[in-house]
Amino acid sequence: MSAARLDFSLKDRVAIITGGAGLLGVRHAEAIAAVGGIPVLADIRRDEAEARAAEIAHASAGKALGRCWRSSSPGSDAWTSS
Ligand SMILES: NC(=O)c1ccc[n+]([C@@H]2O[C@H](COP(=O)([O-])OP(=O)(O)OC[C@H]3O[C@@H](n4cnc5c(N)ncnc54)[C@H](O)[C@@H]3O)[C@@H](O)[C@H]2O)c1
Repeated sequence: MSAARLDFSLKDRVAIITGGAGLLGVRHAEAIAAVGGIPVLADIRRDEAEARAAEIAHASAGKALGRCWRSSSPGSDAWTSS
């Protein structure tokens, strides 16, 4: 890992990842948690989002949240969450 990458930090910054329980969403969440950020896995699959977030929080000894969230297509109504 390069020195520049070691200096990079998202400490206590929150990042919302739509489709967060999916393949790419989990990888992004892991990367954010690895540099101190707090990933929010926003996904229509609540149970998966919560389970993957718990795993990431445990593995990174940090915070991660799973939330039920349905994002809409560009140009349509605002996103909704529950
Ligand atoms: N995996 C790859 O290599 C790859 C490569 C290029 C592009 N993509 C694209 O990136 C995107 C994500 O890929 P992936 O492999 O993580 O897919 P995935 O199917 O593993 O994950 C998608 C996630 O999005 C969630 N989801 C679906 N509709 C939603 C909505 N309306 N609101 C919130 N969450 C919703 C699903 O429940 C699922 O957890 C896809 O559009 C895919 O076509 C993936």
